Parts: sequence; C-alpha cells; structure tokens
Amino acid sequence: MKSFLQVGLLCVFQFMLISKPQAIEAFEVRQSTSNSLEKNQQRTDDLPSCEIFCRGDLLHTVEMAHIYKDSKTFVDMKLKQPPNVTMEIFKKFMQSKNNAPKPEEIEAFVNENFEEKGKEFVSWVPEDWKENPRFLNMIRNEKLRKWANDLNGIWKILGRKMIPDVYEHPELYSIIPVNNPVIVPGGRFIEFYYWDSYWIMRGLLYSQMHNTVRGMLLNFMSMIQRFGLIPNGGRVYYLKRSQPPLLPAMIKSYVEFTKDEQFAVDSIPILVAEFEFFMNNHAVEVNGHQLFVYRDSSTGPRPESYREDYENAKFFDTAEKKQDFYSEIAAGAESGMDFTSRWFINSINGTNDGNLTDIKTRSIVAVELNAILYWNAKIIAEFYLLDNNGEKSAEYEGKAARILEAIQAVLWNEEAGVWLDYDLINKKPRNYFVPTNLSPLWTKAYNRADSEKISKSVIKYLKDLKIDSYPGGIPNTLQHSGEQWDWPNAWPLMQYIVVEGLANLRTTEATEMSKLFGYKWVQSNYQAYLSTNAMHEKYDASVFGGTGGGGEYETQLGFGWSNGVIIELLVKYGDDITPANGVSKTTTVMSLIMVTSIAVIVSVFGRFI
Ligand SMILES: *[C@@H]1O[C@H](CO)[C@@H](O)[C@H](O)[C@H]1NC(C)=O
Ligand SMILES: *[C@@H]1O[C@H](CO)[C@@H](O)[C@H](O)[C@H]1NC(C)=O
Ligand SMILES: *[C@@H]1O[C@H](CO)[C@@H](O)[C@H](O)[C@H]1NC(C)=O
Repeated sequence: MKSFLQVGLLCVFQFMLISKPQAIEAFEVRQSTSNSLEKNQQRTDDLPSCEIFCRGDLLHTVEMAHIYKDSKTFVDMKLKQPPNVTMEIFKKFMQSKNNAPKPEEIEAFVNENFEEKGKEFVSWVPEDWKENPRFLNMIRNEKLRKWANDLNGIWKILGRKMIPDVYEHPELYSIIPVNNPVIVPGGRFIEFYYWDSYWIMRGLLYSQMHNTVRGMLLNFMSMIQRFGLIPNGGRVYYLKRSQPPLLPAMIKSYVEFTKDEQFAVDSIPILVAEFEFFMNNHAVEVNGHQLFVYRDSSTGPRPESYREDYENAKFFDTAEKKQDFYSEIAAGAESGMDFTSRWFINSINGTNDGNLTDIKTRSIVAVELNAILYWNAKIIAEFYLLDNNGEKSAEYEGKAARILEAIQAVLWNEEAGVWLDYDLINKKPRNYFVPTNLSPLWTKAYNRADSEKISKSVIKYLKDLKIDSYPGGIPNTLQHSGEQWDWPNAWPLMQYIVVEGLANLRTTEATEMSKLFGYKWVQSNYQAYLSTNAMHEKYDASVFGGTGGGGEYETQLGFGWSNGVIIELLVKYGDDITPANGVSKTTTVMSLIMVTSIAVIVSVFGRFI
C-alpha cells in the first residue's frame, strides 16, 4: 500500500510536469484538496463530512429511525453546521433523551441540523449542447429519428453543476467536489457514477458534446489523483470502493472522436495509477494465474442502504460474520450488479440458489472485470506508443498478455462454449447465464485467430439457452430471485456488451445475432417510450416494451446509460431499423424469400396432389 502511495505521488508529479498548460489549469481545482502534492495524499478517511455520512452513531440513529423511505435520502442532505459542531449537538441531544430518542424526536433533530438533499447541484444546460447533432442523419426511420432527437434533448435535463458553496464548504456536503459539470444518470442517482458514465459519454460524443465529456474525464482523473481510485459514485460514502474500471475506455472513446492524442498521452500516469490500484487490491491466484475480483475496504453497512444492510445482517450471529456480510454486499456494489444471484454461493451445494445472506462476491472471479483489465493494459500500451515510449508500451502489452492467458486458462469453458465466472470456494466454474459471460468479445480479450470457433460456440450457447427468444431483450440472468439484476430484468449496458461483442467477431452468424439483439432492444425501448413517455434505468426481457422492477429501490427514470446505448445502437443499425417489432429490411427480405419459396413449393407440389 505504501509503495502504491509513493508510485501514485510520483505519477501525479510526472503528470504536472508533462501536461499542457490548459491541462494543468483544468486540474487546478478550486477546492483546497488538490492545491499541493502534499494535499494530494489526503486519505479518504480524512474527508470531514465522512464523520457524519460514512459511519458512526449519528448515521446509525438517523437511518434506523426510518424517517425516509430510501436510506440514501439522509446521506445526501446538507449539514447546517460543520461536522464536529453537529456531532457535539448530537451528543447533547442523545444525552437529553437518555440515549433513546423517539423517531419523531430524531426527525426533529434532522430537520434542525440538516437541509434537504440535492442542495449541492443546480441544473446546468451544457454549453456544447447542439440541436440536430449529425448522428441523427444516420437514422433512416423518421419516428426513430424523432425519438433520438428527444434523447439528445434529455442531456439538457440531466446536466448538473456544483454550486460555489460546495467548493468553499465541502465539509457540509457528502458530495465530492469536482471542477466540471456532469451528466448524471437520473432518478435517485443525483450525482455522477463511474461505469454509467461510459455509456453516457459515448452518447454525448455522438451528440457532439466533446467539452462536456472532457470535463467529466478531468473530474474522474482528479479523483485518481486525490484518492488513488475512482469511487463508485461522487459521494464521500462511496470512496472505499470503485466500479468496473472503464476510464481508459472512456478516454480512448474521447480520443477517437476528437483526435486529441495529446489528451491520451497526458492521461497515462493516471491510468497507470488506477491500473496499479486494481493490481494491488483486487488480485487473486487461481492455478498459478493472477485474476481479479471485486472488493471494498469499508466497514459496516453501506450508508446509502444502511437500514437494509443492517437488517439483513441480523441473520448472522457474530460481529465478524456481520462484517463479512457487509464486505460482500459492498463488493457486490463495486461490481455494479447490486444485487444478483450471480454473487450467491449456496453454502450447502455451491449453486446460485439462495438469497442475499448467501452473497460471496469476493469469492467469485468475474469475467468482465478481467476482460476490462485486459483492455485497460492494451489501451495503456497503445497510449505509450503515441508517446513514442516503446519500452513501456511493450511492458503493458506483456501485462495484457498475462491477463489474457489467465482468462483463457481459468475462465474460458470449452464444454459450455463460453467464458464463465469462477468460484474460489468450491474451485469450479459457475455455469449460469449472465450477459457478461460474453464480455471478452466486447473488450477483445480473445485470440482473433479463434474468431470462427468462438463465434460458433457462443451462438450455440445463446441459442441452447433460448436467450434470443425473449421479446424485451437479453435477461440479466435466468434466476428468479427478486433481485434487480436477475430475471426478468434486462439492462441497457448488458445489451450493449453483447451487441458490440458479437459484432466484433465479424462472422456472418454473429453479425446477424448482434443485429437481432440490437434491433430488438431499440424496438422494445421505443415501445416503452411511447407508452410511458420516459427512458428507464432497466427493462423487462419477458415483455415487449416492458420496464423493469425489483431490488432495493423503485425503478428510476432518466436515464443516462439507457439514452447512450440507444443513441449508439441507432448510429450502428439506424440505416435499417424500424419501430415495428421484428420488421427490418433484412427480415423483410428473408420473409419475402420464405413466402416465395412456399409459393413455389406449393405450386410445384400442387400439381401432383
Ligand atoms: C470544529 O473544528 C474547527 C476547525 O477544526 C474548530 O475551530 C472548532 O473549534 C471546532 N468546534 C467544535 C465544537 O469542536
Ligand atoms: C441447492 O440447495 C438449495 C437449498 O438451499 C435448493 O433449493 C436447490 O435445489 C439445491 N440445488 C441443487 C442443484 O442441488
Ligand atoms: C435466506 O436464506 C437462509 C439460508 O437458506 C434462510 O435461513 C433465510 O430464512 C433466508 N432469508 C430470507 C429473507 O428469505
């Protein structure tokens, strides 16, 4: 850990030296945290508002009083006085109530000392927002083009800018101050999230909002400088975990759209620091190979779901088992799939049958995390080449090659014909459907020479499970657990991973299947948009036009990644796609051929009957 800090510090220093002046300017944050190298070392525990919002008696007392339906409401409120003063008031309050205040007294305490949530941001219309971005021309169908135009308009609704008071008094807020305005997912997610931002940024890039994306990238980079990682989301209570690390892919996307190669070169030290964070904190060994799992370093319940976690932990009888449970839950949140039977390991038979008490995220090697880390090493190698640093580039090619070898040796499953998560407790692959089983196709974490063979086997895998038969898209799993990342919910980014991954194979069959999933997703989302006039966080695979439910909170509208995925699918397949279910140029031609052949057969055989 110590050496990581030293490396991080060195990287930050290097970065300051090599950056262009405007990059340095952008990094000169108004808040006090990053003004000097010394302050860059600030540990996450030091953020003053954590005293209130990350752990402790006040948090426990308020959350357990169940004043708000959603545990996240309280931790997003603003303090009226500094944390230490608030703690003093709280101690006196507890004493005055013999340490047993009634819920209405706690509510009165909160009302006296906190302001309502969401005070840190104001709405912001991005300066680079454009009417009629060019990508609309790529959509042939008029209704879909009109819809895409609506989606482009939603960016204006999801824009947020921090108020000056956040920079002057960060201790009064749970938000982590960053310099640049952001596009948020929407609904209860009123701050920025890490992996969501990948699909949001892809959408923004097609909407030609390059500066907005650049600002969001600088925000993320400043977080690695300050904390050594990008947190799950932009709050102090998310700082002990990250999310699937997509910053390198975000920067690669930005550079592809803007051709700003200097930005890629400037980002190298930061990408290296994040890569090292995962190498140092997420590695496990399987049969002599190094692979990676999701982890979190916090203690206690997640503040944003405090009461739910605390109640669920009552199932366990010792403090140690409760803490293990909290860690598994938080690691599940790091994966972004919170929650799913994918992370359950039944203690009796090792299956995914169970409930949240069976969660063992830290003992499951997740296919996509390893596929993404492979991608990250490749991107870093590519950026080093842009910087004419062949030696470093080769070093990262080597790291990528080792991860690829590990993925092939441990995660590829010849029998299933696909990659599978690996169970470290029972030392065996987990043969359950999740779209992420195909994620190496998306990040190209496979040998291109094997494309034909892989194409045949993954298509057989999908067809055997009838994954192509669901009217509303690809379900996240086939397990009926009631969790939001299980049947029947279908998530935008998972459709994207499969559609892109299959298209990358470049075989006729995989291209057809990519189109089938891509068309279906656009058509089903369009149907849902017509009937609800909104974009949703998740959808229902079992119903054409159906929207999702289940899990620990109400389904959310907005919605950043949903819009981004539709925009990109419309760019990809918009030449051909129409709103009607299953009707497209290709299928129309196919059915024409079928009708004609039947007619011919009937006419030929008709004579003999
Ligand atoms: C709170 O902290 C500030 C600055 O660290 C200090 O000046 C003040 O006296 C403290 N107040 C209390 C009530 O502890
Ligand atoms: C595993 O155990 C659970 C009960 O905990 C049971 O419901 C399930 O059917 C079992 N699965 C298998 C394959 O034995
Ligand atoms: C969760 O599973 C455990 C172990 O099978 C069981 O004892 C417990 O009652 C279940 N909890 C709920 C809420 O269903």
